[in-house]
Amino acid sequence: MKEVKIESVLQVFDNFDELPVNVASLMKQAMAARENAYAPYSKFSVGAAILLDNDEVVTGNNQENASYPSGLCAERTAIYYAGAKYPDAKIVRIAVTAGSRIHQTVTPIPPCGACRQAIAEYEVKQDAPIEIYFMGETGKVAKSNSLANLLPLVFDKSFL
Ligand code: THU
Repeated sequence: MKEVKIESVLQVFDNFDELPVNVASLMKQAMAARENAYAPYSKFSVGAAILLDNDEVVTGNNQENASYPSGLCAERTAIYYAGAKYPDAKIVRIAVTAGSRIHQTVTPIPPCGACRQAIAEYEVKQDAPIEIYFMGETGKVAKSNSLANLLPLVFDKSFL
């Protein structure tokens, strides 16, 4: 038996103002998308903005449903739209902002497991890392240089 250690490295910015200008602009688009989230049940709204290598930006937000499991997270709403509209473009980075409408969220909120799996599919497909920036409503912003940092031991097409 041997032990395998898995490490993930993230960068953390103290606040939104520390972000590079182009990333701040993408995060602002995620913030704007969050305003349109349809989250009457959880009251937790999420916005995502995706920059593609053709310079297009695709945004999305969470869309809930009275039949709860039928709803979809912001990241997957955005990434599936990107895949549908620009199937040949590569994803450069994703910015995500999330927070409750009931209490203020000041810590970075990472994409859920299902969204990580969805993002992983595109990272594998394009064979190039996808940068992910995530934050609450305000406060620190975390950056992962690749989805792989957020989902070690990924299940991908190589196993099929
Ligand atoms: N949600 C997202 O949009 N992205 C995530 O990564 C986590 C959760 C949404 C789903 C649901 O509408 C609400 O947040 C509460 O879980």
